[in-house]
Amino acid sequence: MTKNLYIHTIGCQMNVYDSERIAEGLKPLGYVTSSLETADLVIANTCSIREKAEHKVFSFLGLLADMKRKNPNIIIGVGGCVAQQEGKKMLARVPYLDVVFGTHAIARLPQIIKQIELNRRTVVDIEMLERIEEIPAAPELTTRNKQMNLSEDGNKATSFVTIMQGCDNYCTYCVVPYVRGREMSRDPESIVKEVRSLVKSGVREVTLLGQNVNSYGKKEGLCPFSELLSRINDIEGLQRIRFTTSHPKDLSDSLIHTFKHLDKLCRHIHLPVQSGSDRILKKMNRKYSRELYLEKVEKLHTACPGIAITSDMIVGFPGETRADFEETLDLMKTVEYDSLFAFKYSDRPNAPAASFPDKVPEEEKKERLRLLLELQGYYKTKKNEAQVGSTELILVDGFSKKQTPEIQNQDVQWTGRTSSNKIVNFIQGDACDKIFTGKMIPVRIDKAFPHSLWGRAMPCSDC
Ligand code: SAH
Ligand code: SF4
Ligand code: F3S
Repeated sequence: MTKNLYIHTIGCQMNVYDSERIAEGLKPLGYVTSSLETADLVIANTCSIREKAEHKVFSFLGLLADMKRKNPNIIIGVGGCVAQQEGKKMLARVPYLDVVFGTHAIARLPQIIKQIELNRRTVVDIEMLERIEEIPAAPELTTRNKQMNLSEDGNKATSFVTIMQGCDNYCTYCVVPYVRGREMSRDPESIVKEVRSLVKSGVREVTLLGQNVNSYGKKEGLCPFSELLSRINDIEGLQRIRFTTSHPKDLSDSLIHTFKHLDKLCRHIHLPVQSGSDRILKKMNRKYSRELYLEKVEKLHTACPGIAITSDMIVGFPGETRADFEETLDLMKTVEYDSLFAFKYSDRPNAPAASFPDKVPEEEKKERLRLLLELQGYYKTKKNEAQVGSTELILVDGFSKKQTPEIQNQDVQWTGRTSSNKIVNFIQGDACDKIFTGKMIPVRIDKAFPHSLWGRAMPCSDC
């Protein structure tokens, strides 16, 4: 008998990957993914990185109260980082939950759900493990559906692959080490096997995920990250490799060098700096200086001219003065980021900075965020405009969800990304062949917008 499953994913790419594994693991129990309205089992996979993310979780769970009242047979579960953080305290706030499962309980979830189906007793499982529990079988095409970013022509060109869990860095603002546990790397064999299987199912680009991929395998004595990249680069049929996140303190010369000689490695690095002030970097426990960061940026440009660099920034960290903030703006002017995620500092449970003095008032944080985004808008536009007139190789992601409003063209619009991770919406144009998800196609960039580029496909060079 088939049963309907709806997974609501909040948070980072790791949660997206975990949600796929949850769906995969529940398949043998008869669950197929569906809409929320028709679900027999609803799972919220949650994020606790900032207070706002946590609020989102509780407002989604609030929506489910009515569903559960109307149909008490529905099973409602909460997993991910808020579940790990709150454990059974979740039940006091959301009494209609059937299961609270932590970030290390995904492999155990099918067993838990089976048990709940039988005896309807609430389960809380937030046990953390010492070793990574491998979940066999990479997701096959059959389990993928709209909720998993399938394109309209039925394929999926890109996929995440988590290569390590947890984090040992203990940045003072961050909740991740407490909700994801100690850093643990997966065996390279099983990663390569998973990528191969994804390629077989039509995936052409993988993004390798970890909180700090630069320290991959160090603890376990596995191969260095650069070697893992090289092994993945050898997989036939795979077109592109991305990875995230790189901690600047661990970005080695050998990894920088891989940009030079691995043909499938995309010309983009996400290298979060968080602040441009040494004083604040120290308080954040980031373990690098502004100078060291800029040195690495320089080396990246030398190894891979034109490489796109993106970052995360936090404004209003406790004790951040206007002068510290000016240093952040100054660093942005030096680096000229292609794109940036900026956040107002948020107190998190267990994170030491929550008890640091000299909190920055909310209004001031807002103002700093506004100034920072304004400056970043300038650089993003500048970088996008610099692409106009060039021809870029695009990996087709599928149909563009909405028409680019500035373009009065009724042709079917496709969407994809450049190697430097810029979104490009484009039309068939002069392409010699049919366009489909997963195809690599040259696109001439005709226009630049703040968040995307627009162009037309060109004949392939080998036609
Ligand atoms: N491991 C990655 C980051 C993961 S969290 C790294 O070290 O770069 C993603 C981003 O959320 C962080 O880079 C940081 O900019 C932001 N962030 C984390 N904790 C935060 C907090 N308490 N308040 C505001 N932003 C935060
Ligand atoms: Fe959080 Fe720092 Fe670890 Fe990133 S490196 S996950 S910011 S503790
Ligand atoms: Fe959020 Fe957990 Fe990712 S806190 S950012 S979902 S690791």
